[in-house]
Amino acid sequence: MSNKPLSLDEQKKMRLVCKLAAQTREYIVPYVKEGVTLLEIDKMIYDHTKTLGCEPATLGYRGYPASCCTSVNEIVCHGVPDSYVLKNGDIVNIDITHKLDGFFGDTSAMFMIGDVSADAKKIVDIAQRAMMAGIEAITPYGTTGDIGFEINKFATRSGCSTVKEIGGHGIGRIFHTDPFIPSFGKKGKGDKLIPFHCFTVEPMVNLGTDQIEEFPIPGSSHHFYKTKDKKLSAQFEHTILVTDKGYEILTVP
Ligand code: MF3
Ligand code: CO
Ligand code: CO
Repeated sequence: MSNKPLSLDEQKKMRLVCKLAAQTREYIVPYVKEGVTLLEIDKMIYDHTKTLGCEPATLGYRGYPASCCTSVNEIVCHGVPDSYVLKNGDIVNIDITHKLDGFFGDTSAMFMIGDVSADAKKIVDIAQRAMMAGIEAITPYGTTGDIGFEINKFATRSGCSTVKEIGGHGIGRIFHTDPFIPSFGKKGKGDKLIPFHCFTVEPMVNLGTDQIEEFPIPGSSHHFYKTKDKKLSAQFEHTILVTDKGYEILTVP
């Protein structure tokens, strides 16, 4: 792995930026309702991030135009906030990354708008529990495959599928770095989990096929993705610190 373990001072900075990102994630909860536009949510996130003294890390990141990602229904990830009005029955992932004092904190959650279908409730619940199953598999000197294995096992046992091409990532002074954290894999395989490194766990879980379709984001080198069968997709994300005894979830308010 290219990056070194974090010093105590660096761990302190990661704890703070992650806590603040989680605070913004909680702050928007009452506003993510029927009738609000994705751009209005983006503006609230921009303002709250600044109020906390942080920078919205996605804004201008390789040309990405907004302060968050808003991925509605069959959008798998990196949905760009636009004038879409959230409507009763939608599910939306809101993904927030703060930067403070040279460090990044990355977290996302699902929001259910009004009365949602049983399928929508199911995919949101499975995605959240799949992320937790992955996190609980983290051990010092374990592997990325241990995490992916548990995520995939949980999702597939529930009749859902996991996205293979995109996943979690090392994070710290760099927004996206190694290791790649897959949502599938074999126990004991992949990269080693080194104490006092940080990475995200952010499985994308689909109701139907695991196949996804890629779309360009104009002016950006990023893409957004939809499920190929247009069925629902859901995702949650935490930033994690591996410790010498286990792990800490950093993106808690
Ligand atoms: N926060 C996203 C992640 O979890 C990254 C978004 S990059 C963007 O890794 F440019 F698409 F916003
Ligand atoms: Co991430
Ligand atoms: Co994110």
